[in-house]
Amino acid sequence: MTGRRTSLPVIAAAAGAVLLGGCAAAEEQSPLNPVGRSAEAIDVHWQTMLWTGTAVWVIVVAMMVATLVRRRRKDGTGESRGEGGGGRAILFVALAGAVIPAVIIVGITVQSVWVLQETDPGQEVDGRTITVTGHQYWWEVEYPEHGVVTANEIHIPTGERVRLELTSDDVVHSVWVPELSGKTDMVPGRATSMWLETDEPGTYWGQCAEYCGMQHALMRFIVVVHEPAEFEGWLAAQGQPGAEPAAVPSGEPDVSTQDTPAEQDSELVARGREVFMSSSCVYCHAISGTEAQGREGPDLTHLASRDTLAAGTLPNNPGNLAAWVVDPQAIKPGNEMPGTDLAGDELQALLAYLESLE
Ligand code: CUA
Repeated sequence: MTGRRTSLPVIAAAAGAVLLGGCAAAEEQSPLNPVGRSAEAIDVHWQTMLWTGTAVWVIVVAMMVATLVRRRRKDGTGESRGEGGGGRAILFVALAGAVIPAVIIVGITVQSVWVLQETDPGQEVDGRTITVTGHQYWWEVEYPEHGVVTANEIHIPTGERVRLELTSDDVVHSVWVPELSGKTDMVPGRATSMWLETDEPGTYWGQCAEYCGMQHALMRFIVVVHEPAEFEGWLAAQGQPGAEPAAVPSGEPDVSTQDTPAEQDSELVARGREVFMSSSCVYCHAISGTEAQGREGPDLTHLASRDTLAAGTLPNNPGNLAAWVVDPQAIKPGNEMPGTDLAGDELQALLAYLESLE
């Protein structure tokens, strides 16, 4: 008994911590702070339902309490129901039980038809189309008109309605950027679409919203909204092929004291490129302008320009990149990337090369 008594508050505290933790984590992905056209329409609908529902609940509870109080008083005095009470009761039932609910339901139905029109994926867009393909557990993002392929980041300009053409490479996923738009499923072998539009530059977190396997929760991405000029700059930079490091000198790399630090760096990068191209990396990853053309995993042409690694799991910095390359299964068990057993100096060179891919 004692054990049970002490464990209850502990369980309650743990449950509270989990709930509060959930709230804190949800802050950066909140449909309650809409900044996208589509999310704003959804928010109007949700607010209407919340406040109408709250008003109905408050009125019903107030009337129940009033009835209980009155009945108790009447029981005390022994009064009976007066003449004419029956007619008033029928009128009340007709109004509160039929007319008012009908008005509310029709009103909300009309509004939901409006929301469906406002968020209709078939709406006209401003011309730009981005293709997004779901994979377990990452997002392939393509700008077909510009020959740009990236991953786990969707960049769009402000003030433009941009269409996302969606599909999946394996199982059903769902695109959700709570602050910008509602959810749209990605279905293998089928094309679906949605659009994004906002006037607010910034970074917005997106999330896979359909259970797709072990790492569903870590299938995240960001939408980066730029001012138009900045966006064009980003697009142009992403369209460039991967930078070619200076050729490796024949034989063993010369790291003699005569080399400047910059020369040593470029030698390391060049050596890392060789390591990459001669390892199994190339079967799954592409780097534009090189012989690496795998499409199983994310395109790495401009890996170093991205904010996150492993689909929003880690901030993109040298330490995290090293941890990810060495043992991705420890960070995201069940993802499709194997770890590496490269020797220390080869690994260092490989990481230097990957970090040079800006
Ligand atoms: Cu992809 Cu859940």
